[in-house]
Amino acid sequence: MQNSQRPIPTPAPQSEPPMQSALPLGAVFWPAHATCPTELHTPTIADPAEDHYTLKNGVVVTVRPIRPSDEPAMIAFHRSLSEESVYLRYSHLIKLNHRIDHDRLSRICTTQGDREWVFVAEWTPPTNPTQPEIVGVARLNKLPDNHTAEFALIISDAFQHQGLGAHLLSWLLAVAQTHHIDHVIAEMLLENSAMEHLCQKQGFQLHNQLADGIVTADLDLAPATR
Ligand SMILES: CC(C)(COP(=O)(O)OP(=O)(O)OC[C@H]1O[C@@H](n2cnc3c(N)ncnc32)[C@H](O)[C@@H]1OP(=O)(O)O)[C@@H](O)C(=O)NCCC(=O)NCCS
Repeated sequence: MQNSQRPIPTPAPQSEPPMQSALPLGAVFWPAHATCPTELHTPTIADPAEDHYTLKNGVVVTVRPIRPSDEPAMIAFHRSLSEESVYLRYSHLIKLNHRIDHDRLSRICTTQGDREWVFVAEWTPPTNPTQPEIVGVARLNKLPDNHTAEFALIISDAFQHQGLGAHLLSWLLAVAQTHHIDHVIAEMLLENSAMEHLCQKQGFQLHNQLADGIVTADLDLAPATR
């Protein structure tokens, strides 16, 4: 991803050391008493709480479930994406006005978390402490067989190569395990070497479908969940 419309942010001053979370597979990473930060969810054991994670450049991001009030921040997030990132995420170019269409975004921002989970990573720019910005979106969708889920990730260009994609993928795998999902899959373009590398590091098997220019990634979680 060479397109970077904004400079890489510098760390915001921290009053105390940020909590670093590694989220190992199988970890129960939200306590039973955690209150869910979304407006729609009723808090339960299955609702993830917030997580703070320090990127390689020292910036601290918060990962949490998406919520209805995120729509303006999601619009800003989509504006921050390069065409290359959009193309790699959706396997074709989707125009900005379609990506920020109200019906589309309000559907995404009200995801309920029974078959579909959407999480955002946000940071608070020191110059605008009252307005956190969304810098990454991770989603996991259960497929009709109820044992498989497909995931997708997208990180804003200025926040790529800082470890956020790897962290969000670990987060999604922990969510999948909690929901007794046995297989996690993803599809990516053949040229998406960053995504292929990231999946391989997490133990996914990659299968090239050269004729289609697509790589499928497949991870069996079953041994860890039984
Ligand atoms: C793919 C994507 C999610 C990766 O997120 P990221 O935050 O940049 O990734 P990370 O910083 O966590 O890097 C993960 C690993 O990939 C490696 N990597 C990054 N870019 C790479 C590249 N172009 N080629 C090979 N490896 C690369 C990193 O070095 C790191 O490996 P390491 O831990 O061994 O050093 C991000 O680049 C993105 O949003 N791309 C556009 C959308 C997209 O492609 N989505 C995936 C479709 S499902």
